[in-house]
Amino acid sequence: MNAQNRRTFAIISHPDAGKTTLTEKLLLQGGAIHLAGEVKARGQARRARSDWMKIEQQRGISVTSSVMTFERGGITFNLLDTPGHEDFSEDTYRTLTAVDSAIMVIDAAKGIEPQTRKLFEVCRLRNVPIITFVNKVDREGRDTFELLDEVADMLALDICPMSWPVGMGGEFEGIFDFVTGNLMQPTGGSKAFEGKIIATGGIDDDILAENLSERGLSKLREEGGLAKEAYPDFDLAAYQNGDLTPVFFGSALKEFGIVEMIDAIAAHAPPPRPQPIEGGFIDPSDSEVTGFIFKVQANMDPNHRDRIAFMRLCSGTFKRGMKLTPSGHGKPVAIHSPILFFAQDREIADTAQPGDIIGIPNHGTLRVGDTLSEKNNRQFIGLPNFAPEILRRVVLKDPTKTKQLRKALDDLSEEGVIQVFYPEIGSQWVIGVVGQLQLEVLISRLEAEYKVEAVLEPAPFDTARWLKGAEAKIENFASLNRANMAKDRDGDAVFLARSSWDVGYQQEKNPDLIFGATKER
Ligand code: G4P
Repeated sequence: MNAQNRRTFAIISHPDAGKTTLTEKLLLQGGAIHLAGEVKARGQARRARSDWMKIEQQRGISVTSSVMTFERGGITFNLLDTPGHEDFSEDTYRTLTAVDSAIMVIDAAKGIEPQTRKLFEVCRLRNVPIITFVNKVDREGRDTFELLDEVADMLALDICPMSWPVGMGGEFEGIFDFVTGNLMQPTGGSKAFEGKIIATGGIDDDILAENLSERGLSKLREEGGLAKEAYPDFDLAAYQNGDLTPVFFGSALKEFGIVEMIDAIAAHAPPPRPQPIEGGFIDPSDSEVTGFIFKVQANMDPNHRDRIAFMRLCSGTFKRGMKLTPSGHGKPVAIHSPILFFAQDREIADTAQPGDIIGIPNHGTLRVGDTLSEKNNRQFIGLPNFAPEILRRVVLKDPTKTKQLRKALDDLSEEGVIQVFYPEIGSQWVIGVVGQLQLEVLISRLEAEYKVEAVLEPAPFDTARWLKGAEAKIENFASLNRANMAKDRDGDAVFLARSSWDVGYQQEKNPDLIFGATKER
């Protein structure tokens, strides 16, 4: 067993592009072992779904991320699900820090959409290599060259088509695979892929004429030939460096191009990569067990406030019962009942490799951003907090519940549901989110899990910035701007700004300070 056969990846897309469908089909092809969300006592969890889970159900969106693992051809794939709703992006961003590569799903009729682009930028920050899947070719789509050029232009990426659709929508006749020379064709009334593959010696092979309409054939030859000339060849190093994206065409719904994608991930996507720590990188081959928490998920049972912290293992071979020390507070934690998502059945497995995700049940000791290690001398970096785009004051309906509210806000900010700011003046705490939906989640979880009734009122602030710079300079700035100063949950200084103009103005006046829109833990 080693880390080389692990592929830890995520799917990024705009809502409705087909991520859920593609995920299902990948799992189906990969003979999925099980879904992480089902790991804990299922019956009980279902009965006890709290309100925020109801929001999830009502809106048909996935608020929580999970881990899905499947194996194929000796490779273990860890697929980290990211919430697709555009409001709920912070959690998604964090999940992307735990993957080594990503699949970007694009709707053939729509091209690059806003959320695809945002998520892509996060991948780019960390040079996460991306495989592009142009989905829904069974429906009318845009011109193939136009789509490819949009990806190249909008994302400033080199692109290399690995396959080519023969027509789309009503004229769809199959997918031609440039790598193998195979033509995959739909069969039957539903026009799904049922395994009909025609092996060819290339787009000029006469056998194609027997299987395609005259129109389809001439289109494939013309477009395919042009594509091969117009775009660069596949270059593994450029892909792994995040400079080039191989593009596959297919239909998640009709199961076209799914296996090809899995095979491409197995063949080209990087195994666990060295992870950034303060002062350098830690290599997966390092024998010390290290990992970081990228997500904390509260148990669905509101009566037991235990949580699952999701740790990405970065180095060493994890063994059950092992003691690891979280960087947050320094007390070693014995991990007796880790949830290892690749276990063949629901039994608790005993070991895990770099790239694997381990679920660690805990009572709030583990926080997003914590590093866990055997020797407690490491701190992974690069797990971002994002400047909130919506700020609200939290007002209690029952003022005697201050203590419960503080506990709840601390907990939920540790989970990454909200960010919390404690102003230096005044007693009304301010919470920040990047999307409206998080506010609803907050209110229902406060009630369901903490029995705290609260309302959110507009705050006189528009955004928040983390102050960085010499301590004396920060203190000096703070003394002049008390009414706008707050501390975040870690006690770090935050400037609550009335507008982004205000941020620019203060930045100009205080060139020695950095007004950070993100904070890396
Ligand atoms: P998401 O997770 O990215 O939000 O997208 P999801 O997979 O839920 O797909 C969004 C819609 O697009 C669904 O239709 C789904 O069936 C459809 N879809 C996904 N892949 C393909 C494809 O390859 N071809 C075609 N023609 N459609 C595809 P829906 O009407 O919203 O839901 P449903 O009622 O069909 O389930």
